[in-house]
Amino acid sequence: MLLHPLLAGRWSPTTYDTSYDATPSEVTTILEAARWAPSAGNSQPWAFIVGRRGEPVHARLVRHLTGSSAPWASTASMLIANLCHRFVEDTDWDYSEFALYDLGQAVAHMTFQAQALGLFARQFRAFDRAGLAAEFDVPAHWEVTTMTAFGRAGAGPAGDNSRLRRPMTDIEWPVEP
Ligand SMILES: Cc1cc2nc3c(=O)[nH]c(=O)nc-3n(C[C@H](O)[C@H](O)[C@H](O)COP(=O)(O)O)c2cc1C
Repeated sequence: MLLHPLLAGRWSPTTYDTSYDATPSEVTTILEAARWAPSAGNSQPWAFIVGRRGEPVHARLVRHLTGSSAPWASTASMLIANLCHRFVEDTDWDYSEFALYDLGQAVAHMTFQAQALGLFARQFRAFDRAGLAAEFDVPAHWEVTTMTAFGRAGAGPAGDNSRLRRPMTDIEWPVEP
């Protein structure tokens, strides 16, 4: 069985083409992909802080990258911070039991939409989440969860273990016949 080329061709770069600027239409299309993602009860518990390289928002996002992500993430055409609506405002009640699940799915849709546009995405958590939340006045009932770096890939997949996967026999839960 061959995987769909969008799935088979996806990987997460740590080198980006610094000469490529994401177009406004690419940015909108990637956000549309998130907007149309499914979510529990259609709760749509997501929001995104978008910074194209060269824009002031991008510089404010870059400020909160850590030593491990700054060298590569800052060179991508666009950085997006992925925010999750975790709680009902001023309470500790879940906004939706599936909010993080739904955000992850929305980001997956963005990843594949980017792929369809000839762009690549690397999701990452290597940044100062509290610092970024303070930077953009994100209220306590929203969680800055992850970031994604989008752009044209500058080089092929690294020769590390990031492309290794657990075997199929390991991911199918053993069920007694
Ligand atoms: C939630 C999440 C957090 C991640 N955090 C980081 C990170 O902080 N730094 C990093 O270099 N890669 C990060 N990654 C990328 C993964 O390491 C990468 O997706 C994994 O090694 C598989 O490689 P592939 O996407 O090329 O298949 C993260 C990915 C996800 C989904």
